[in-house]
Amino acid sequence: MKREQLIVTLACVGASAVAALAFFRCDTAASTHGTKRVDLDSLPIVGEEEAVLAAPPQVPPPITRDHATKVIVRLEVREEVGEIADGVDYVFWTFGGTVPGSFIRVREGDLVEFHLSNHPDSRMPHNIDLHAVTGPGGGATSSFTAPGHTSQFSFRVRNPGLYVYHCATAPVGMHIANGMYGLILVEPLEGLPPVDREYYVMQGDFYTRGAFGEAGEQPFDMQKALAENPDYVLFNGRVGALVGDRALQAKVGETVRLFVGNGGPNLVSSFHVIGEIFDAVHHEAGAVANHDVQTTLIPAGGAAIAEFEVEVPGTFILVDHSIFRAFNKGALGMLSVEGDEDATTYSGRQDDRIYLAEGGAAQRVPGGDQPVSAEPMQRDELMTRGRQVFQQICAACHQPEGQGVPHAFPPLAKSDFLMADIDRSIDAVLHGLSGPIEVNGAKFDGVMPAVHLPDRDVASVLTFVRNSFGNDGEPVTPAQVAARR
Ligand code: CU
Repeated sequence: MKREQLIVTLACVGASAVAALAFFRCDTAASTHGTKRVDLDSLPIVGEEEAVLAAPPQVPPPITRDHATKVIVRLEVREEVGEIADGVDYVFWTFGGTVPGSFIRVREGDLVEFHLSNHPDSRMPHNIDLHAVTGPGGGATSSFTAPGHTSQFSFRVRNPGLYVYHCATAPVGMHIANGMYGLILVEPLEGLPPVDREYYVMQGDFYTRGAFGEAGEQPFDMQKALAENPDYVLFNGRVGALVGDRALQAKVGETVRLFVGNGGPNLVSSFHVIGEIFDAVHHEAGAVANHDVQTTLIPAGGAAIAEFEVEVPGTFILVDHSIFRAFNKGALGMLSVEGDEDATTYSGRQDDRIYLAEGGAAQRVPGGDQPVSAEPMQRDELMTRGRQVFQQICAACHQPEGQGVPHAFPPLAKSDFLMADIDRSIDAVLHGLSGPIEVNGAKFDGVMPAVHLPDRDVASVLTFVRNSFGNDGEPVTPAQVAARR
């Protein structure tokens, strides 16, 4: 938290003795939380306008008008084949052609005239339940729409906040699992405090006939959905939707607001940004903000608004901190922050030296008990030792068969990057590797830490990976490693 914010916060406490605070300001909304905030009769509807919708991860611009109006929302349901991961197709059912669906932004007191169209090519009827609606089914009972039809209904938005919408046509779980959800933001009368960046991120779990990453078109699997055992847990409907070229962007010193939803259908999200602390979180997207939050829980069918300033440059990883989902099922995104380093906030690595436990009489190789020897190593010895080192250290990220994890950890199997340059691969193990690289045509932009191993183990593991998983290369010798140290 910046000093100015802290001062504002303390002033708020002093002035009101109410610890209900929002980002950058005293929050009067909290005091009316749980009551009807405004008399709608005092907010006459003036004029009308077409809603500006936005596709994720973008959101429509903040509302600047100071009166209620009639907002006409036109949303089209389309059933479309899309990529759920590289080489894996899925038939998504969408609101507006994207998963999550188009972001809708209105203001407290507005009258929303909602037009739901179902594309003539659709095979299923659909409807919409908006959690921002006060009325039966959240609109679902009035919006059941056959293919090639348009339904219309209207509602006043009575409560500010960030609300999920979703299809509620039977089987409801299947419609949601196919991607039929999105967010509608109802700005409070006073608007939201200005920030530099706003983004739209929504988690969902997906159930496919094949396992994670299995190529080809994958149909929905009802049994896995009933068992709540997804193959994919995703931000914005695709493995890598917010990674690499598609990462969210910000600059050092800017404030960022994330509108984060969870469509489910089954899982609760432990939303976390690695390397950041949320200065404020509107937990469950309600009026009260919590401060200095590491991980916020987002229920299925719920949302949160997370706000923070970015103080240092780097890549900040969005995850569901139920962490196998992040690294093995796809729930991983990136916020790329550019700008000047701030060594006061974060130093970077300051030192790296040998750690000698127990006075340093014996130095042990991590996970191994092989004595350090000056004898030359034979190829089969390199391979045997290399397999051990690989399994103990490398397989956790690069995976047991060297296949890697799409958009996170590059493959070693049949890897053009690995095999092209022995010295480069030695350097990567000795000194680590970061920044953008391309492996077998796929881009990666992560961080591999330096691995602290003796020359013989580095030579062994490189010999092993260069002669395993479909690779065929020369052995790497301890002398070659020593020369790169
Ligand atoms: Cu539907």
